[in-house]
Order: sequence, then structure tokens, then C-alpha cells
Amino acid sequence: MMTETNGPWVGILMGSKSDWDVMRAAHDTLDQFGVPHECRVLSAHRTPRETAAYVEGVEARGIEVLIAAAGGAAHLAGVTAAHTVMPVLGVPMESASLKGLDSLLATVQMPGGIPVGTLAIGKPGAVNAALLAVAILGVKRPELRDKLRAFRAGQAAKILAEKLV
Ligand code: RP5
Repeated sequence: MMTETNGPWVGILMGSKSDWDVMRAAHDTLDQFGVPHECRVLSAHRTPRETAAYVEGVEARGIEVLIAAAGGAAHLAGVTAAHTVMPVLGVPMESASLKGLDSLLATVQMPGGIPVGTLAIGKPGAVNAALLAVAILGVKRPELRDKLRAFRAGQAAKILAEKLV
């Protein structure tokens, strides 16, 4: 029997407020599933100590999944994972110079030992990070699994209702 807290259950971190336009999609998706969460701007290189302090505190606060988004030399997700054993989902932000390929490689290419579950670049990754967080939380919460099934059924119904001509 698990002890349920009122949350937050998920922490969404991003390296800059400039990531919020995209990461709002993760926040909206978690809202849609009624998952309590918090959103914070914390940078691996601009606020390294505060980032470590926040991440080291999440387990005691009942946060079960962290989503970390960053662009460029995107080390936020890796640094986050280094400071906790809770699951960390990385979302590479699209960058101006390399269109997010830099962020993707920096986030996904973690050396063996400290995993970051990396999603797609940009908004699809933000949405999927939230959906994957719901699935992780759903392992012990049947009501979240039901909501995921309903969400997928809704998506399928939309596709099947498409008329081309
Ligand atoms: C990263 O650098 C942030 O995650 C952002 O994606 C990128 C650019 O940040 P700003 O210069 O817009 O603050 O740290």
C-alpha cells in the first residue's frame, strides 16, 4: 500500500525561461492528467549549486519523476540524474545554430552508469516526457493507467474519423 501525497509528484526543470514556450506543453499535459507537479528554471551551469540542492531534495518531498529540458551543450538532465536515483527524463530543446541536434546528442549520450531517458527534440519531446511520467506514476496508480488508455483511445478515434476527400 503506497502512501499518497498531494504532490508535487513530478518536477519539470528547464535551463532558461526561454525554454518555457516549449516546456509549457509538458505542464499542460500533466495538468490534463491531473498530475500534481512544479515547474522551475534551474541551470546546470548558471546556478549549479541551487540545481544540485533542489535535485537532492526531491526524494524527501515525494517527487517521483524529474523532467529536465535544456538546449545547446545540454547537460541539465545529466547533472540532474547525477544527483538523484529518481527517474530523469531529458527533453532536448531546439537550438538556433544546430536545430537541437547539439541538445539531443548532449542529452542522450550519457556514459553508462547514470541514465537519462531522452525524448524527442522540442514540443513532441515535452509532451512525451509528460506522458512517460504519467506511465511511470501509473505503475502504482491504476486510475492513471485508465486515463492513459482513455487518452490513447481518443487519439485513435481522431485518426479513424479523418476524412481526406
Ligand atoms: C540552455 O541554453 C537553456 O536550456 C536554453 O535552451 C539555452 C539558451 O538559454 P538562454 O540563453 O535563452 O537563456 O541553458
